[in-house]
Amino acid sequence: MRVPTGCRGMDRLLDGGVPANRLYVISGPPGSGKTTFASQFITEGARNDETSLYITMHETREELIQDMASFEFGFEQAITAKNARFLNLTSEKARMSLTKYGTEGGLTNRVAAMIEEIGVDRAVIDSTMLLTHFVEDPDNALTEFATRLKQTDATIILISEMTDPSAYSAEHFLAHGVIFFHNFMEAGGMQRAVQVIKMRGTDIDCDMHAVSFSSGGIAVHPDQKVDQVR
Ligand SMILES: Nc1ncnc2c1ncn2[C@@H]1O[C@H](COP(=O)(O)OP(=O)(O)O)[C@@H](O)[C@H]1O
Ligand SMILES: [Mg+2]
Repeated sequence: MRVPTGCRGMDRLLDGGVPANRLYVISGPPGSGKTTFASQFITEGARNDETSLYITMHETREELIQDMASFEFGFEQAITAKNARFLNLTSEKARMSLTKYGTEGGLTNRVAAMIEEIGVDRAVIDSTMLLTHFVEDPDNALTEFATRLKQTDATIILISEMTDPSAYSAEHFLAHGVIFFHNFMEAGGMQRAVQVIKMRGTDIDCDMHAVSFSSGGIAVHPDQKVDQVR
C-alpha cells in the first residue's frame, strides 16, 4: 500500500506515494521546504481521517499554524482535528504528556509507545536536532531512535537538517527512504529542487526535480529536471 504525501508532484515522482508504515528521512538546508512538506503530509492524513502526530521543537502549534496560513492546504483544520496530536518538546507540558507512555528508556521509547498506544497512522518528527537537547550522546540516540521508530506501524517522516548534501548519517542508512530538498543560488535567483536519494520498493530516478511554492504549498515538477547543485 502507498501513502500519498499530500504533494501531488512528489506522489507522481514516487509512483503514488511512499510505501506505508515505514520511516522516511527528509533532509535539506534551512528554508528548503522541509517543514512545509511535512505539514502537507499531516494535512493529507487528516483528509483521510487518519490519526496523526506532529512532534517538533522548533515552534508552537500556533506559530506553525500561522506559518502555514498563507497556504491553502488546510493545515490548521488538520492539526486541530480531534485525532491529531501536536507536541512541542521544548514545552514542559508536552514533555510531561509523554511521561505517561513510560518512564523507562527515555524519549525514544516514549515516542514509540505513544505512536503504538494511540494508533498513529502518520507522524512527523521535526527534527532530529531535538535529540541533541534530550540526550548526552545524540549520535547513538539517533540510531536507536530511528531503529525504534521503524518498528512501529506508522508512516513516519523524520526531518534531518543538513547543509552538506554528502554528509550522510545513521538515519539516512536506516530509513526506508531518503528525500533531499535543495535550495541553492543560481544566476536567476534561488533554485529549489527535490531529489529522491532512496526509496525501497520503488523504481526511482535520482535526478533533481524543480520545486516551487504555490498556494497549495510545495509543488514538485517531475518533468522539470534541474542540472546541478552548487
Ligand atoms: N508562498 C511562498 N512563496 C515563496 N516562498 C515561500 C512561500 N511560503 C514560504 N516560502 C519560503 O519557504 C521557506 C519555508 O520553508 P520551510 O518549510 O520552513 O523550510 P525548512 O523547514 O526546510 O527550513 C521560507 O524560506 C519561506 O520564505
Ligand atoms: Mg523547518
